[in-house]
Amino acid sequence: MRVLLTEEQIHQRVRGLAREIGRDFLGKTPVLIGILKGSIYFLADLMRELDVDHEVDFISISSYASGISSSGTVRMLKDLDHDITGRDVLVVEDIIDSGLSLSYLRKNLLSRNPRSLAVVTLLAKEVPRERQIYVDYCGFEIDDHFVIGYGLDYAEHFRELPYVAVMEEEDRRRVDDRRLALGRP
Ligand code: IMP
Ligand code: MG
Repeated sequence: MRVLLTEEQIHQRVRGLAREIGRDFLGKTPVLIGILKGSIYFLADLMRELDVDHEVDFISISSYASGISSSGTVRMLKDLDHDITGRDVLVVEDIIDSGLSLSYLRKNLLSRNPRSLAVVTLLAKEVPRERQIYVDYCGFEIDDHFVIGYGLDYAEHFRELPYVAVMEEEDRRRVDDRRLALGRP
């Protein structure tokens, strides 16, 4: 694998994002909605840097079956625990690729009538997109590579890496071989 963003680069940027978000949400108590599972590292670091009172909830959706390209459909796997009607909501995403997940989420969450809805993503891929995406805060724009680490996975592997790396063919082969050996094609 090839390291794209070091731990230090990520943490510095997360601190910057937290400062910006803190200013914009001053005096409010936003609900941070972490999109499981990729955003957990980002969310945990952002929360610790954020200087405004906030709550946390989680939602889980799936657009990638287990591979590296979007399946084109989005399914809800786990809904929020709490009602967000009238609340200031901040969606916390790991990465935006096609924008499909985010546009599904935005529509879904807006139908619950929050007072406001904003989106922060750690990463956004610079790819041509069919749909317009609306992101209020973005950590890094990256080239169109499949990346792993800092919460991001390939078939549930590599989330634990403290940095973000570009996945290479040998990383993929290693995981695929292990899955095959375990009888999980
Ligand atoms: P989108 O719906 O195409 O924007 O895909 C967004 C979701 O797919 C993200 O929230 C990630 O969970 C996953 N994803 C997209 N690109 C990558 C990647 O490079 N590595 C790991 N997961 C990714
Ligand atoms: Mg995701």
